[in-house]
Amino acid sequence: MRQRGFAAARVVTCDPSREGPLGTVQDGAVVFEGATLVFVGPRVQAPPDVPLVELGDRVVTPGLVDAHTHACWVGSRHEEYAARLAGADYRAVARGGGGILSTHRAVATASVDDLADSLTSRLRRMATLGVTTAEVKSGYGLEADHEKKQLRAIAIAAGRRGVPAVVATFLALHALPPAAGDRAAYVVHVARELVPEVARERLARFVDAYVDEGAFTTAEARAVGEAALAAGLGVRLHVGQFTDVQGAELAAALGAASADHLEHVSPAAIEALARAGTSAVLLPVASFTLGGAAPPVAALRRAGVRLVVASDANPGTAPTESLPLALALAVRSYGLSPDEALLGATIRAAEALGLTDRGALRAGARADLAVWDLPHEHAIVQPWGLAKTHLVLAGGEDIG
Ligand code: NIG
Ligand code: FE
Repeated sequence: MRQRGFAAARVVTCDPSREGPLGTVQDGAVVFEGATLVFVGPRVQAPPDVPLVELGDRVVTPGLVDAHTHACWVGSRHEEYAARLAGADYRAVARGGGGILSTHRAVATASVDDLADSLTSRLRRMATLGVTTAEVKSGYGLEADHEKKQLRAIAIAAGRRGVPAVVATFLALHALPPAAGDRAAYVVHVARELVPEVARERLARFVDAYVDEGAFTTAEARAVGEAALAAGLGVRLHVGQFTDVQGAELAAALGAASADHLEHVSPAAIEALARAGTSAVLLPVASFTLGGAAPPVAALRRAGVRLVVASDANPGTAPTESLPLALALAVRSYGLSPDEALLGATIRAAEALGLTDRGALRAGARADLAVWDLPHEHAIVQPWGLAKTHLVLAGGEDIG
């Protein structure tokens, strides 16, 4: 197969084996063959007979990895958003049958093709923003058939051309379905039947649960998390978005891949996450739209917890499709450094999804990269509000 490549003023590898916080190579080149990178380094060391497209002063980074999205949905929650701006509380709206249940009603009446089509469009727009891998959760179907329909829609969209690679997560406990008679019986059904079925049918790699006051308890999430582990799936949990109900402790105890949100988390839980190697997925768009607190980033950093930044793309708390917007808020509102934010959307995000073949530009990795119409990587975290990419490659194919 033919080798091809690029040369640019700055090749930001995010490879920890290189020097500097982002392993940046000045006057660098990347060469790939098919879906795989075969050379990353100084342009003068690039294989001599490979044609290099000249990118001039542009920056090349690994393709961005969005490690937390709820991008498979239909409908609109604009009325709820306006009501919240006028003072309504997210959890009160949810108790009144809005919020997650409002999107549940739209998803329950949608066909698998409707869902796959809206997700495909969203994924394509994400690609133009530099994203080459996106995690996508179910969680609006709530009932077995609709959850599986959502997961099938995710698989259909993932198989289409021009989209980022997709990692599917079964968001097993998000809200109690309106028709569920008995809460305990619902949790048992999800843990004993649905999780093993999803694993058997290979519909997801991870299982997630929303652990918070007004959502699910740690005992309920533990049942589902243990079922996931028994079925060979990984665990990631929504914890401490509104209240610390010790969801982060549970994430650490289960050896979860990530604990997400973490606005409310105790010092002891932070230590537990660090010991367990559980990544912290920070979702600044959600706390921005909710007018909520920032997570204790300094304490997480001090403890050595790996920091990931994700969009949380969803129709309610994070009505965005933009990981770069999340990066802009992560630096401005959460106090991450630009380098931390960029690592959190590349190598750290890939690690949190259990993916070792991407997130950094190095020989042998997937040819996933973004070329930015920007003179420096730190400009990526500025709040542009539109795509600043020149080119986006996923597995060596142009998707952006
Ligand atoms: O990550 N907090 C729970 N889940 C989503 C919001 C889902 C929704 O409001 O539709 C979140 O913020
Ligand atoms: Fe979420």
